[in-house]
Amino acid sequence: MVELIPESCTARLDPLKIFGREAPLQVDLGCGDGAFLFTLAAQMPEKNFLGIERLAGRVEKACRKAARIDNMRVLHFETAYAVRSLLPERSVETFHLLFPDPWPKRRHHRRRMVTTDFLRTIWAALEENGILRIATDHLDYFTRILRLAGESNLFAFMPPNGENDFPASAFEKKFASSGARIYRLGLRKVSPVM
Ligand SMILES: C[S@@+](CC[C@H](N)C(=O)[O-])C[C@H]1O[C@@H](n2cnc3c(N)ncnc32)[C@H](O)[C@@H]1O
Repeated sequence: MVELIPESCTARLDPLKIFGREAPLQVDLGCGDGAFLFTLAAQMPEKNFLGIERLAGRVEKACRKAARIDNMRVLHFETAYAVRSLLPERSVETFHLLFPDPWPKRRHHRRRMVTTDFLRTIWAALEENGILRIATDHLDYFTRILRLAGESNLFAFMPPNGENDFPASAFEKKFASSGARIYRLGLRKVSPVM
């Protein structure tokens, strides 16, 4: 079953049961049609990959791709809730947050995914030294993410190398072809400084 139907909306998922094996887990938040995750999963058959997406049509497309490989599953859910309540603590090696909706109008900023609370739940779901990768074409959102991550004390900023090793997501291709600048950030989980 490539589309995950959680047994309960409050119980944590069991990656061993979902994938039938223990392996490092990478999660794509707002995975769209799953193109990025599918390419990554095909490149790394030794790891498990989970896409989370709230739009049914995109989930369906992602599921069609996941059906072609063994190590990709798709969860039709709201990201913030899924990270906070469904993913087990310390279970994720890498989160990918690629081109989250920027909500450019000021009055819509509260709809943005990345908040202090969101970063805390990401931190809890990451393994020791786990990584959150973020890419956006939106400078204002990027600046805000940098500030929130810096204030949180939960992450170390990673040098932006190694990014070329990852496949481009559908939105990355779209923005790159229009000549838009892309801002990237890698955050590594650390113990909070008291
Ligand atoms: C701009 S698209 C980027 C898609 C993909 N990450 C890429 O880079 O090609 C943002 C995606 O996040 C999904 N999304 C936005 N907010 C979400 C949320 N709260 N929970 C789950 N998915 C969400 C949207 O439906 C959309 O598919």
